[in-house]
Order: sequence, then structure tokens, then C-alpha cells
Amino acid sequence: MLTAVDNKKKYTIITYGCQMNFSDSEVVSSILNNNGYQLSDNHINSDLILLNTCSIREKAEITIRKKLQSFKKLKKKNSNLKIGVLGCMAERLKEKFLVEEKMVDLVVGPDAYRDIPNLLRDVEVGNNAVNVILSKDETYGDIDPSRLKSNGISAFVSITRGCDNMCTFCVVPFTRGRERSRDPKSIIKEILKLKNEGYSEITLLGQNVDSYLWYGGGLKKDFKHASELQKKSSLCFSKLLELIAVNFKNIRIRFTTSNPQDMTDDVLKVMAKHKNICKHIHLPVQSGSDKILSLMNRKHTISEYKELINKIRRIIPNCGISHDIISGFPNESEDDHKLTLELMNYVKYDFGFMFKYSERPGTPAYKKLDDNVPEKIKQRRLQEIIDLQQKHSFNNLKDYVGTNCEVLVEKESKKSSQFWCGRNSQNIMVVFPKKNHKPGDFISIKIINNTSTTLIGKS
Ligand code: SAH
Ligand code: F3S
Repeated sequence: MLTAVDNKKKYTIITYGCQMNFSDSEVVSSILNNNGYQLSDNHINSDLILLNTCSIREKAEITIRKKLQSFKKLKKKNSNLKIGVLGCMAERLKEKFLVEEKMVDLVVGPDAYRDIPNLLRDVEVGNNAVNVILSKDETYGDIDPSRLKSNGISAFVSITRGCDNMCTFCVVPFTRGRERSRDPKSIIKEILKLKNEGYSEITLLGQNVDSYLWYGGGLKKDFKHASELQKKSSLCFSKLLELIAVNFKNIRIRFTTSNPQDMTDDVLKVMAKHKNICKHIHLPVQSGSDKILSLMNRKHTISEYKELINKIRRIIPNCGISHDIISGFPNESEDDHKLTLELMNYVKYDFGFMFKYSERPGTPAYKKLDDNVPEKIKQRRLQEIIDLQQKHSFNNLKDYVGTNCEVLVEKESKKSSQFWCGRNSQNIMVVFPKKNHKPGDFISIKIINNTSTTLIGKS
């Protein structure tokens, strides 16, 4: 006999790309669960497959198109199966997607997820459905995300959406729209719920968290037109961070991503003051050359960036620092590349995310600059960047050997069921033998060895 639950339509969400996409999938899941759908752990027996997509580099889009192709057979077998594309690729390609990928039934941009139940009703009666409208105020603040694949220990909490920075290489401002901040009350409410459910760590998410500004709603760029009262009672990132740190003393707090030009001394002081704020800053730089930074429309120079690094080290001496770097941006000369390696040698980052430049249609760089660094040179420069980073990572991690780190136990190590793993405050993975601790515990681990990515401890 079928139960009511069995009668519900089943869906799967497959997520690609950044942490914000993973966080968005949790919002989508919550919306579907409240509208008669039930999450399935397997796309084979689903009535609806959603792909939450990424457009950041061409490779990401190619991977997603391949995945869509792989669903062709499923769709042939089950004519009721519906396929939806969410996220940045949906926003970038809009209706065109339905033509290019004939089997897609639903295309929904990052600000239109509330409309999914309506769009699905359209799909049920045989229409294709598209909503890619970007919003001035959508933050999904009142939606209680349904934690997907959660370890029950750490969770993402989004605090801003969109980006106004217009880095010339980046599609995000086009796919996620203008920057807006979420009501602090709804942020606190979400964290309180996570705390009550036993979570031990949260990561505050945004394309540009340091530029968080709540003044009653609306776009960040319209703040200048806000009333005096709104301006006076506004809340910036350092204040939000402190509010959370003070109210949730037993929760560890992380945040990402920081843009160098928006990181204030106040944020650093709040980080230094509160034990429960992790000592790690992800500070993308993209290039070590002022010429390239200017072509990228990054809003700082290398000397300002170095000053910020010095300040971080002064105010938070044990702070982990990581980066994003792009190799082979248009007009990048060998000297520009050397400046990137030089900067890396100056900062000695703990880890980083390194990419080859990928020209994205519609971006300012696509319109104005020739993608003129040959693929082979891009690749060679990228490898040099990766090799140098590996050396720095190894040396930095070696400095932990002989010290004690506070680690939040997360899960069993992938390599051995005899070991747990978890991260220290600086966001470095620590692996150590199982004893009578359990996931969710904060424990002190003595570090006895290291690789370039992992600390090995004894408990
Ligand atoms: N502020 C964002 C940045 C998103 S993109 C955040 O929250 O992380 C992440 C990184 O991808 C960027 O910092 C950049 O290094 C890289 N990236 C973005 N566009 C790219 C492109 N067209 N080609 C190669 N790398 C790119
Ligand atoms: Fe992209 Fe630059 Fe914003 S990398 S997300 S435009 S800060």
C-alpha cells in the first residue's frame, strides 16, 4: 500500500560550483519540501532532477552540459521525468538553454527560486518554464534552508547576495545581480536554529562579505539615498560579526569571501578579540602585477594589498591566509607573472585556489581585451604558481609540528576508518587516531607530522 509520503513526487538536486550554490540548493530544497516534493537520494528514481549550475569558467559549463547529456537515456525511459537548470548558467543563457539543451524543462535564475512551485505547475501541463529575473531585494532571508548532505556539524549561512565589484573577468555580477544584504534578525534566527540543532560551526557566505551593510533593505549601491535614520542605525560587517560572536560563544564562526579593499581594521580587531571567530582569511588577489590588477578592475594596488597583509599579521599573528590567483589574464607578460610569484613569496599563503584565465562571454574582459596568452603559457604559469604554493603550504604546515591545535571533529578520515578528521582555526585539515571523542567535539590535538595539505596529529 502506498503511504502519503510515497505519493509525493521525488526530486534530486545536483550542485556545482561555489559554496553559495550549495547554500542556495538548501533553499531550493526547503521550497520543494514545502510544496509536496520529497528529496530522493538517487536521481534514477526521481521525477525531477535539478542541476544547480556554475558559469565561472568554461570548463564548469562543459562538465554540466555533459551531465545533462547523460540524462538523455533516463528521460527516454521515463517520459514523466522533468529536468531543471538552476543557478548561474540558467541566468547566463536564459531561454537559449531550452533550445541548446532540448530536454531541459525548467530554467530558473538565482533570484527566482520562490517561483519554482509555480513553474513546476507550468511544466506539468506541458509548457517549458523560465524565470531568470534578478531582484533588488531577494535574500531568501525567511526561508529555513533544508540542510543537504549535512554532517550536522558545520553549516553555511548566507549574508549577502550578488556583487557590485565588476572584476572584468567575472560573470558573477551578471548572473547574481547587484549586491544586497540580509536582515540581521533573520541571520541570527537561522544561527539560533542551527545551534539548537547541535551545529558547532557556521560559515557566513557572500561574494563580498566585508561589504555587508544592512540599512533596512535594498541594494548596497542605493545606501547613499537612505534616510539619516537608516544610515545611523545601519549595521556593517564588523558589527554583524561581533553580534554573532557574542551571542553564540560555543559556535565557531568562519566567513568568506573577503575583498581586499573592503576589509576594515574593525573586522580584524573583532576577529582578534573573539576566540570563537576562526583565524583564517580568504583574500583573493588574482595577480601580483598592478598593471594586471588594473585591467581586471580590482580596486587596490599590490602595495595596498601587502599593507593589508602586514596589518593582518600584526593584529592577528596566528591568522591563516589563503588566495585565489588567475594565470594568463589578457596582456599578462612574463614579468607580470614573475610579480605574482614574487607576491606569493612575500605573503607565503597557507593555501589557495589557482585557475587559468577562462574568457567568459559578456564580461568586460571579453568585450575589451584579447585573450592573448597562449594556452601552453597559461598552463605553464599556472603550474609554476601551483608548485610554489605547494612549497609554501608544506613549509607553513611544518611550523605546526610540535604544537597543539584546537580541532572540531568532523568525520571519519577518507583514508582510514581508524582516524577522525577535522579543521583547526586556520582552516587546515587535521587527521588523528580515533579515541573516545565524537564528531562535533572540540579537542586539542598535538601535531606530529604534515603533508602540504594535511596536519597529522595524535590525540
Ligand atoms: N567573490 C567571489 C569570487 C567568486 S569567483 C567569492 O565569493 O569567492 C572565485 C574565483 O574564481 C575568483 O576569485 C577568481 O580567482 C576565479 N575566477 C573568476 N572568474 C574567472 C575566469 N573568468 N577565469 C578564471 N578564473 C576565474
Ligand atoms: Fe566576481 Fe570580483 Fe565579485 S571575482 S564575484 S566580480 S569580487
